[in-house]
Amino acid sequence: MSKTIIISNRLPVQLQISNGDITAIPSVGGLATGMKSVHSGGDSLWIGWSGLTDEEIPDVLAPKIDKALAEHGSSKVRLTKEEVNGFYFGFSNRTIWPLFHYFLEYSEFELSYWETYKTVNQKFADAILEKAGEDDTIWVHDYQLMLVPQMVREKRPNISIGFFLHIPFPSYEIFRTLPWRREILQGLLGSDLIGFHTYDYERHFLSSVRRLLGLEVSFNDIYLDDRVIKVDSFPMGIDYKKFHEAAHEHAQRNESQKSELQKRLDTHKKSAPDAKFFLSIDRLDYSKGIANRLKAFEYFLNKYPEYKEKVRLIILAVPSRSNVPQYKLLKKEIDELVGRINGELSTVSWTPIWYFYRSMPFENLIDLYTSCDIAWLTPIRDGMNLVAKEYIATRTDKTGVLILSEMAGSANEMNESLLINPNNFEQIADTLYQAINMPKKEQQERNGILQKRLERYNVEKWANDFMTSLVNQKEKEDVYVSR
Ligand code: ADP
Ligand code: G6P
Repeated sequence: MSKTIIISNRLPVQLQISNGDITAIPSVGGLATGMKSVHSGGDSLWIGWSGLTDEEIPDVLAPKIDKALAEHGSSKVRLTKEEVNGFYFGFSNRTIWPLFHYFLEYSEFELSYWETYKTVNQKFADAILEKAGEDDTIWVHDYQLMLVPQMVREKRPNISIGFFLHIPFPSYEIFRTLPWRREILQGLLGSDLIGFHTYDYERHFLSSVRRLLGLEVSFNDIYLDDRVIKVDSFPMGIDYKKFHEAAHEHAQRNESQKSELQKRLDTHKKSAPDAKFFLSIDRLDYSKGIANRLKAFEYFLNKYPEYKEKVRLIILAVPSRSNVPQYKLLKKEIDELVGRINGELSTVSWTPIWYFYRSMPFENLIDLYTSCDIAWLTPIRDGMNLVAKEYIATRTDKTGVLILSEMAGSANEMNESLLINPNNFEQIADTLYQAINMPKKEQQERNGILQKRLERYNVEKWANDFMTSLVNQKEKEDVYVSR
């Protein structure tokens, strides 16, 4: 029976060694949380990196790795410390991530990173070739593996390959600065179908293909001598039902069933019933605009001082890529900003910012989503931003306000939220004011529309649309080849 092979750098879980044993913790990030829902439902194998380098795994634990991953329908690609440094911390996160998020000044064009990226992409391709039958479908994910489609195609000319990019594809003017721009495009063109979150990213990609490779592009098809490749947008959805039902179940809990976090949130709400909670949840990443958000919060409190002691900002930041210097610097900047703002504004009974720097279990995410009046997400640039969608899905009585950066891919589908430019503090302060004072009826009208849309175009539908499009494209290619 044919199967789908999902391939991405991250697996649904990351392995860690604690107390001399292997433990699996859920991976954070849109790719892992989204694809987990797709993977859990069907007959797929997920290939990726376990999160541990070869050097970190003692011989006695080696057999346990495969077992731990098999429990999650996964299989590993082994990476050495040097490979992780050059491929993951290097080319993926010091070259491509900043470049594709328009942080050109952070991008490092280092030949040794590129060489390791090629070597490691070949390892992933080899892992696919080892596991894949001729009738299987290969679904490659994200910027860490952009050479894999062509590497697989060389060995299996007829196999079905889809590729989905979870981050923005930048405009031609940015992309052309990459020394290995043609190789990246050629790597991607090994696919039959290339998917992006938005039409803009799709357009940018096609423009680069036209201008850098001089290929024939007709609408969203790219013509090679012996193949036709389709490029399309598929905005990724969430597991709407999971979030919505978890929030319903959460609302029915009695006191003894509540988490410590929920009890603390309840206590604060009771002591100041008119107070408003603002929430932001992100990986600690410069693309997420966390520092800007803190400065804008301070700006808001200065512009509207009547809200001092009446609002509180809860920031949940997940540790991410902390070996990369820009992330270390950002952590320091955020620690300092939180310290300074709290130091200057706190009173005996009020701490304006609650800052958590950690990953949280799903249950606590639901505590936060359901307890906070306003979700406030200000990425400078974001491929999609699933947190915005998750917040709306948990608002079972349809109250709550979402303030979202227009630079997030999800803003295209969430027009009923309050959209802001993350660099415009004046606009942000006024939008926070508007959100605090928005009548309940208006909140419910806006969220009602958003919820219907998110429920309809959920992650399952997203994956089905992608797969259906891949099958159709393969048929179209067969006709083209036999013409
Ligand atoms: P990105 O993929 O860039 O990290 P997204 O907003 O698209 O951004 O996805 C983030 C995912 O990670 C969401 O599904 C969210 O629920 C999850 N997540 C974010 N922060 C945490 C946290 N502190 N603990 C657990 N999960 C988190
Ligand atoms: C984004 C990327 C994913 C990545 C995730 C977490 O969502 O698109 O590919 O897995 O961030 O980042 P990490 O570096 O921890 O895998």
